[in-house]
Amino acid sequence: MEAQKFEKHILCIGAGYVGGPTMAMIAAKCPQYLVTVVDINSEKIKAWQTDELPIYEPGLLDVVKIARGRNLVFSTNVEENINKADIIFVSVNTPTKTFGEGAGKSADLQYWEKTARDILKFSDSDKIIVEKSTLPVRTASAMERILNTNQKGIHFEVISNPEFLAEGTAVADLKSPDRVLIGSRETESGIKARNEVVDVYANWVPRERIITSNIWSSELSKLVANAFLAQRISSINSISALCEQTEADVSEVANAVGQDTRIGNKFLNASVGFGGSCFKKDILNLVYICESYGLKEVASYWESVVRINEYQEHRFVQTMMRALFNTIANKRIALLGFAFKANTGDTRESPAIYITQQLLEEQAHVVITDPQALNNARHDLEGITKNLEFETDPYKAAENAHAIAIITEWELYKKLDYKKIFETMTKPAFIFDGRNILDHQKLYEIGFNVYPIGKAAKTHFK
Ligand code: NAD
Ligand code: UGA
Repeated sequence: MEAQKFEKHILCIGAGYVGGPTMAMIAAKCPQYLVTVVDINSEKIKAWQTDELPIYEPGLLDVVKIARGRNLVFSTNVEENINKADIIFVSVNTPTKTFGEGAGKSADLQYWEKTARDILKFSDSDKIIVEKSTLPVRTASAMERILNTNQKGIHFEVISNPEFLAEGTAVADLKSPDRVLIGSRETESGIKARNEVVDVYANWVPRERIITSNIWSSELSKLVANAFLAQRISSINSISALCEQTEADVSEVANAVGQDTRIGNKFLNASVGFGGSCFKKDILNLVYICESYGLKEVASYWESVVRINEYQEHRFVQTMMRALFNTIANKRIALLGFAFKANTGDTRESPAIYITQQLLEEQAHVVITDPQALNNARHDLEGITKNLEFETDPYKAAENAHAIAIITEWELYKKLDYKKIFETMTKPAFIFDGRNILDHQKLYEIGFNVYPIGKAAKTHFK
């Protein structure tokens, strides 16, 4: 690849769930740019260079293949690529801090700061630095301080361009985003840099969907968007508990409420709880920021979204325990799905982790199956050998089980032959549908005792 024939050199630091797909899309849509993605994890970079990508994301390989070898490069050479770049996207992980001040809530910015220092060290010319990672509001100001106190006479313009893609639908989200948000300082150089980033997206995103704003609004909007989405799930999940007590049906309630266009019908599926790498961490980060500004009531309002989620996960296990006659010791229980949602192998913060741990605590024998997430599940449950099995075939997982629990809404689980499964199970057989994806009446007629979320249970007991 001849570097000089490209109009612009774009670099992304961090080849994870966001960096990889986002840069693949930019490269596929903009053959005039050279797009390089670097990471310190050489295994990951190696995988991006093959057809066995390091993440499972429907349609992603096709996008990667359009550009890889043409204008898309994956590399471990951070130093050399920093200096060549005009625009540097930083998409490293920003997990919840586990130590010191703010532990358990605030964002751990050590990976982020390390990249800022690398950028400073290896740059000899002016550059635009784009915050792609999700960051606390006002991070750009720290970034600017680190970068612009240099003795080299070079200027860095920091831009915020948070990512809104959801895993499992990343390709469609990137191809046709609801909006792209680009925030900058409202100075002459800030607006110039912002326009350069707008130009990148304008290659395929309609101009009216590219929103520009001041940099703090952009940083904060990302946290707020996730908090609002998660709040909807916690709202409907809290109502699911009330439905179970009153014979109201949470799906009917969600449908009736969501038909109001002011409310809308998306993100109202009651579930075993939300998972994923971002909702919990971003809300807790928002809580921490509010606390640090002395906004106690605001902090506790948002914290309750996370508390309801924990309550929902706990409630699911409690329902299983009560239904199974208050003892699950030595009972085989099959968990269908371990990923935090369908169409991904990602298990970060998956409710499955908590549920498995609780069931093991009660000395149940847990069998986990999932079409994409078994490797990550093994890693999450590393060190546990007793009473735990991993099984690729859901039919085998259910054999001799007292109960099945649907944890992830994989299409595959809607289509299983439940009659065949019922026949191989220990009786009475139970099914706990943590995603409300199955035909509960049909399962009941087969002979199962059925426990959905937010709907009356259907049991054969008098
Ligand atoms: P990830 O863990 O999958 O990827 C981050 C990558 O950065 C890792 O591969 C890591 O090795 C690399 N890295 C860390 N420090 C580095 C350094 N100094 N130099 C080079 N590489 C380095 O994380 P992710 O899920 O892609 O998330 C990245 C950011 O995007 C987070 O802030 C997250 O909140 C945000 N985000 C994630 C999603 C999502 O769906 N996962 C969506 C929107 C936003
Ligand atoms: C979420 C947001 O949707 C993205 O816009 C955002 O970019 C991303 O977080 C991020 O910042 O990381 P993601 O976590 O990949 O994306 O997946 P979602 O589709 O939002 O699902 C999150 C969790 O909520 C899953 O466990 C899912 O099963 C659950 N969920 C979702 C429900 O329980 N009910 C619903 O109605 C919707």
